[in-house]
Amino acid sequence: MKIGVLTGGGDCPGLNPVIRAVVRTSLREGYHAIGIRNGWKGLVDNETQPLDLTAVSGILHRGGTILGTSRTNPYKEPVKLEALKANFKKLGLDALIAIGGEDTLGVASKLSKEGFKIVGVPKTIDNDLSGTDFTFGFDTAVNIAMEAIDRLHTTAESHRRIMVVEVMGRHAGWIALHSGIAGGADLILIPEIPIKMSDVVAVIKKRAERGKNFSIIVVAEGAKFDGSEVLLEQKLDDFGHVRLGGIGDLLAAKIEQGTGFETRVAVLGHIQRGGTASAFDRMLATRFGVKAVELIKIGQFGQMVALRGNEIVSVAIEKAVGALKLVDPQAYELAKTFFG
Ligand code: F6P
Repeated sequence: MKIGVLTGGGDCPGLNPVIRAVVRTSLREGYHAIGIRNGWKGLVDNETQPLDLTAVSGILHRGGTILGTSRTNPYKEPVKLEALKANFKKLGLDALIAIGGEDTLGVASKLSKEGFKIVGVPKTIDNDLSGTDFTFGFDTAVNIAMEAIDRLHTTAESHRRIMVVEVMGRHAGWIALHSGIAGGADLILIPEIPIKMSDVVAVIKKRAERGKNFSIIVVAEGAKFDGSEVLLEQKLDDFGHVRLGGIGDLLAAKIEQGTGFETRVAVLGHIQRGGTASAFDRMLATRFGVKAVELIKIGQFGQMVALRGNEIVSVAIEKAVGALKLVDPQAYELAKTFFG
């Protein structure tokens, strides 16, 4: 049995632990794993790399992906799609494990429907994939953001300033919500709930009234101001995504205007995605990798491994990529208890 493995989309902590688990489980079963370079691009260009015991030794704690990644969408160009399909056959792949988020798994879902034997593994710091309670990478990103919020607290307090912390998450507020609650933010703004500037000002003033002359505001990059997302550039990627960014600066200016408090912005950016994975993410990634090979062993293709409660289960890839998993308003209600 020859199993191809690829990592697509934005990188995230935990990718290497999945690759390691896939290779170790393949060896246990007497299968042969082969790495596809740079996501779907590697199948289009027929770029592979060996994945034996030596290749995966010492990678558990390493961030990024030893296979490289890209945001290539083969369905955008028929020539690329044909090349991909031809290479899948030429490489003699009995199955493919696609590790990625909504875009990479969206391609996996389409290919599955065309008869290609694929198993998906859900990855993204954004935690916005349906069908799984958590994606790996999210816990690490939340911990990084929480640590940053802790650090920003002391400088905000010393200078009696407002600190706006802009975190990633694209159209979902998961990173903002979890890091904000864990870090004790005074206000959390997420894409799912429209920003009301009067509420933001009221929270800061209310704190000032009780002698708290500083505040920490966590804002998700996709939070909407006057109903619109703030963009870094208009250009779309292969999957039609815009580049989000800038809400922090916009908000800071409005806060200074509305409260008179000196305000600073910290944009955490790709720091949230870089470096080593947390223990939780290493465990989740490892369990996902083992399960992916086990699904192949029993011929369960077109499935994605997933976490439900404490169990690793499988769901149809199609279901997982159907709609984004957004923050439920009830979860936001809990956060509100700690605002102000
Ligand atoms: O999907 C992961 C993510 O980090 C988002 O949170 C963010 O909006 C986007 O990727 C950034 O993409 P890029 O790496 O292309 O700048």
